[in-house]
Amino acid sequence: MKLSHFLACSLASLASASVVALENDTPVGAAISLPRSNSLLARFPFSNNKHRKDNWGNRVEKDRKEITIRASKNDHDDVSADFLWALKRANHGGLVHLKKGKKYVIGKKLDLTFLNDVYVKLDGELKFTNDIEYWQANNFYYAFQKSITFWVWGGKDIKIYGSGVINGNGQAWWDGFSGAEILDPNNKYYRPILFLTDNATNIEVSGLHLKDSPCWTTFFVRTKNVVFDDVYIDAVSTNASTLPKNTDGFDSLNVDGLTVTNTRVNVGDDCFSPKPNTTNIFVKNLWCNGTHGVSMGSIGQYPGVKDYISNAWIENVTLLNGQNGARLKAWAGPNVGYGFIDNITYKDIHIENTDAPVVLDQCYFNVNETTCAAYPSKVNITNVKFLNISGTSSGKNGKVVADLTCSPGATCNGIHLEDINLTSPAGSPSQIVCDNIQGDIGVDCIPASEADD
Ligand SMILES: *[C@@H]1O[C@H](CO)[C@@H](O)[C@H](O)[C@H]1NC(C)=O
Ligand SMILES: *[C@@H]1O[C@H](CO)[C@@H](O)[C@H](O)[C@H]1NC(C)=O
Ligand SMILES: *[C@@H]1O[C@H](CO)[C@@H](O)[C@H](O)[C@H]1NC(C)=O
Ligand SMILES: *[C@@H]1O[C@H](CO)[C@@H](O)[C@H](O)[C@H]1NC(C)=O
Ligand SMILES: *[C@@H]1O[C@H](CO)[C@@H](O)[C@H](O)[C@H]1NC(C)=O
Ligand SMILES: *[C@@H]1O[C@H](CO)[C@@H](O)[C@H](O)[C@H]1NC(C)=O
Ligand SMILES: *[C@@H]1O[C@H](CO)[C@@H](O)[C@H](O)[C@H]1NC(C)=O
Ligand SMILES: *[C@@H]1O[C@H](CO)[C@@H](O)[C@H](O)[C@H]1NC(C)=O
Ligand SMILES: *[C@@H]1O[C@H](CO)[C@@H](O)[C@H](O)[C@H]1NC(C)=O
Ligand SMILES: *[C@@H]1O[C@H](CO)[C@@H](O)[C@H](O)[C@H]1NC(C)=O
Repeated sequence: MKLSHFLACSLASLASASVVALENDTPVGAAISLPRSNSLLARFPFSNNKHRKDNWGNRVEKDRKEITIRASKNDHDDVSADFLWALKRANHGGLVHLKKGKKYVIGKKLDLTFLNDVYVKLDGELKFTNDIEYWQANNFYYAFQKSITFWVWGGKDIKIYGSGVINGNGQAWWDGFSGAEILDPNNKYYRPILFLTDNATNIEVSGLHLKDSPCWTTFFVRTKNVVFDDVYIDAVSTNASTLPKNTDGFDSLNVDGLTVTNTRVNVGDDCFSPKPNTTNIFVKNLWCNGTHGVSMGSIGQYPGVKDYISNAWIENVTLLNGQNGARLKAWAGPNVGYGFIDNITYKDIHIENTDAPVVLDQCYFNVNETTCAAYPSKVNITNVKFLNISGTSSGKNGKVVADLTCSPGATCNGIHLEDINLTSPAGSPSQIVCDNIQGDIGVDCIPASEADD
């Protein structure tokens, strides 16, 4: 190419975003446009632009080519094939843009494990069909708690952000599940998880609303470095006789690096609950309403399997109208697993109208004193701090506002409470229960046998 021609081309592409010629496989209504800054000039060694990189060393948004697809005309107009095409086109440095005010319906399962450096700018709504028959026959299955999902995200360097919505269209699923229990071994009515990553490194989700998941809202498996910031999660039923069930905000399995900040969760189950083998957890500025709390575990459920959760920092969390506030749970009894929960800090936690504001349970699940003594937990619980915990219980557990029950003879030490101001409408002074903990816990406490609950 002659230099003059080269410069002309480069300057032309500087002037405006250009639409690339469409190729044969381009779906109807889709388009690819080059970045405004897509000039070879901009990459000249002395250009000012050459250091523009995101936090993973990749191109920033405005340096990416942008792929758009047509929107759906109605809730049955499936654009999953278009969306998959767009992600393939945007992979390795591009961006898929789903526009504000538009709906994009996903009606087929999607394997998105091939990603490497991609942005999805979601300003519109990604909505799943509620074709229960289809999804129960076509999904991705995970043996862990018999989970299924609509799609799997995997690979590396994936950012999904914008002001849009991922809508699980959960109502029909909750209605259909009515009366069933997820832990019932005979249950075959599986419901999809709304957002799942597997074998992924570097996932960032921000700004979005994750709405009405049929089951867990998010689940991260074999994943490194997940960040959720400024996200709103809710699951709200319009059918008075069927509530959303098991719509947990955050779950994880074999994850290193899980960060959730500036997020609100309004669901009827766990707000944030890392599961086996989650390490380096950071939570700050989280609001949970009507939930089962911020809960480490349960872990140690499966015989012969080692599980652990370690290095968690949980700060400035508000928990309202829930079953639990700050909780840790490890299995005891015959035929369970082993492992540890270590180095967990809950700091500046405000709790209101919650049945069990603070719980440490090393005799999970409902293992009575006799059985817990006969089969103590083999999950060691060490170095757990509760600092500056305030608010009120619902009074459901009487005067008890914190219940710390370890297995007799198990390892349970380095448990420290400080600046605890939790009251109960059932009367004062409120009570802190502690059983079988080694060493001083920093506050006055009584054995369960003496509690007014
Ligand atoms: C995980 O992803 C990497 C590429 O990111 C791939 O090489 C590897 O095979 C994947 N592992 C599994 C178990 O899928
Ligand atoms: C609410 O859910 C129940 C249980 O599945 C179902 O029988 C009923 O038809 C639903 N009501 C509405 C208005 O959809
Ligand atoms: C604590 O989190 C709430 C959101 O739940 C936020 O509004 C508030 O600014 C945070 N406080 C601090 C000190 O960051
Ligand atoms: C909080 O949850 C309660 C029920 O658990 C609900 O009535 C209330 O509307 C929720 N508040 C907000 C702000 O979402
Ligand atoms: C947790 O990690 C250990 C290895 O340290 C592994 O043996 C175990 O299977 C993992 N647990 C789960 C539930 O994957
Ligand atoms: C405990 O966890 C924190 C993060 O919350 C981490 O900074 C610290 O290094 C961990 N301590 C140890 C001894 O691993
Ligand atoms: C639990 O603690 C005991 C006593 O310190 C130790 O022998 C055992 O190895 C620990 N188990 C795990 C899984 O860390
Ligand atoms: C205690 O936590 C509350 C939030 O629940 C916060 O507003 C307050 O500043 C904290 N107190 C101290 C002394 O840090
Ligand atoms: C404790 O639980 C075991 C096993 O479920 C049961 O057999 C036993 O009767 C219970 N003991 C008490 C005192 O409730
Ligand atoms: C404990 O909290 C109550 C409000 O729930 C407040 O009135 C009281 O001053 C607090 N006490 C301390 C010691 O901070």
